[in-house]
Amino acid sequence: MSASSSTSSKPAVLIARAVFPEVTRRLAGHFEVESNHDDTVWPREEFSRRLHGKAGLFSSGGERIDAALLDAHPALRVVSNMSVGYNNIDIEACNARGVLATNAPGVLTETTADLGFALMMATARRMAEAERYLRSGQWTKWSFDLLTGSDVHGATLGILGMGRIGQAIARRGALGFGMRVIYHNRSRLPAADEAPLGARYVSKQALLRDSDHLVLVVPYSAASHHAIGAAELAQMKPTATLTNVARGGIVDDAALAVALREGRIAAAGLDVFEGEPQVHSALLALPNVVLLPHIGSATEVTRRAMCGLACDNLIAALGGAAPPTPINPQVLPLRGA
Ligand code: 8YV
Repeated sequence: MSASSSTSSKPAVLIARAVFPEVTRRLAGHFEVESNHDDTVWPREEFSRRLHGKAGLFSSGGERIDAALLDAHPALRVVSNMSVGYNNIDIEACNARGVLATNAPGVLTETTADLGFALMMATARRMAEAERYLRSGQWTKWSFDLLTGSDVHGATLGILGMGRIGQAIARRGALGFGMRVIYHNRSRLPAADEAPLGARYVSKQALLRDSDHLVLVVPYSAASHHAIGAAELAQMKPTATLTNVARGGIVDDAALAVALREGRIAAAGLDVFEGEPQVHSALLALPNVVLLPHIGSATEVTRRAMCGLACDNLIAALGGAAPPTPINPQVLPLRGA
């Protein structure tokens, strides 16, 4: 079966969410494109209806691609995420059906590390709380202990998940702020990668115990679900901060809210949430948590680069060429491509 067996000579592609106009234009040069200019978050049934007959999907990373969806759409051959995270895609289900999944690693590393570091600093130095204080007219005099936070320079930076983004955050801490870097990861980095950062591999227990500022950059999976819950928070220093720029679900948000309220840790910075864009009401009620609407990769240059790489992957894979960043290259070559 070839793509050209459809009435059009071009394979059909669905763009799940609104994107830069040039993305749609570029894809339209290769495919019959259905786009989503209104940026409606289609309910699952409508998304599935629009996916009918499509050979490719340009995904924001928010669309759930599972066995049932793949079974309902046997024409689908490539799912291209514009995100680096791909916990929205059941890779086993793709493998079993010969569907290629691709993501967008690398192009967002430094931008996301900038945001992660900034969020950690804002959390340690209580910047969001301080701004609310000023804007609400409470700043009437200087006080010796007004909004005192904790130092970032010279402190111990803990990283859970030492992939590209974790290492980029560690670099900022070690080389820019003289921080001691400790990390925990599935596997230890080569000594040549640890050395320039003075990074020390430690157990998760030691990471929790010794970090002044703990940053989570681990991919979300069943194994990392609630990697930080009540038991882990109890092992942290009462002066410590926790920053999550990875995925909601890695932190048990309800347990975090309790720990923050009871002063078991000092503060948290969250760019991601369980069930986002919903945010746990207990977190919204707390002063000592900085809350951001998942903007880790949100610079214009980087979002264009993410879209560009997702396009490269779709165009290559559906054109029968090697995509730059496949997740499951073992399904190649694709049938009909
Ligand atoms: C995206 C992200 O903005 O790349 C990721 O994994 O979390 C973010 O950069 C988000 O997934 C929407 O594409």
